[in-house]
Amino acid sequence: MIVNGKHYRTVWMEDKTVFMIDQNALPFKFQIVAFTNYLDVCTAIRNMTTRGAGAIGAAAGFAMALAARQAPNEEFLVRAKQEIASTRPTAYNLFYSLEKVYQKSKISTEEAIYEAQRLSQENADQGEKIGEFGATLIRDGMHIETHCNAGWLGFVDWGSALSPVYKAKRQGKSVHVWVDETRPRNQGARLTAWELYQEQISHTIVPDNAGAFLMAQNKVEMIIVGADRIAANGDTANKIGTLEKAIVARYYNIPFYVAAPSSTFDKNTPNGKHIIIEERNSEEVTHITGQDPKGNNQTLLISSPGSPAFNPSFDITPATLISGFITDRGIIPATSEAIKKLLE
Ligand code: MRU
Repeated sequence: MIVNGKHYRTVWMEDKTVFMIDQNALPFKFQIVAFTNYLDVCTAIRNMTTRGAGAIGAAAGFAMALAARQAPNEEFLVRAKQEIASTRPTAYNLFYSLEKVYQKSKISTEEAIYEAQRLSQENADQGEKIGEFGATLIRDGMHIETHCNAGWLGFVDWGSALSPVYKAKRQGKSVHVWVDETRPRNQGARLTAWELYQEQISHTIVPDNAGAFLMAQNKVEMIIVGADRIAANGDTANKIGTLEKAIVARYYNIPFYVAAPSSTFDKNTPNGKHIIIEERNSEEVTHITGQDPKGNNQTLLISSPGSPAFNPSFDITPATLISGFITDRGIIPATSEAIKKLLE
């Protein structure tokens, strides 16, 4: 994506430094942060400086490569792998990249760095392919709803759910995107909206609970969301609130697509019941962080003081509610057979 006339990736590594766009600072400030210690990359994944399945997959691979640079002895590497794996539990891309770079780090530091860079490029390429396949579903003038941020910021480049929209725009089609705000961290209102604004794509931020109203009024013609982990039977973990959209979409007969690279499909998890759902700090629900008119970041309490809150970060949409997966290898049905073939 182009920001201020320059092409950026969401996360990248040069020499002995990992760089990433600080997603916690967006949309108010565009800034790049840099780390040379793998533990600092772990903190950045935990506190969501970088976030989104593809981006944290690349960051985890780079963290492992940094660890190999820092001390390429077996004990250190094993500890680093455990630390990186403990940052966030749900997105499969994190474990996919981590395992591959760890295996190479046992051979040499150079191999580990090469593998981390290769996986980052793979993620960007897969995002672009998803865009090409997904754009075939988009008609000129279409209204598409999306949840969370599964765009360029959630991956190394291009994204998953938004990539078809970017490709369609480049093909000259006009598209309008309904952007679910995506409480509690507002990835839709803060990040998806910012990305679409940068790309000059028509969009409107809507409260999370407006989806059914829009669908009932025939104002949504397709829903595209991303995925954090897709089980072998097609059950899909994605940002909390996705399941509700899928149920409503089925009721109103609206196509509901999940866009994801093949690196998000976890063939060793048989179904959604086995996917670990991250539970995050309840303060993400009880408080809200934004910017005051003077440009200062403020965190405010927005709920009854003393009342408890529950903050599950993801939910599971059963495969039966999914119209299809838009992958880097084509659009496939949400069935075990199709997923098995995809991963062959
Ligand atoms: O908790 P996050 O912001 O890391 O959430 C993950 C996601 O970005 C979404 O669930 C997304 O739709 C998956 S694909 C990037």
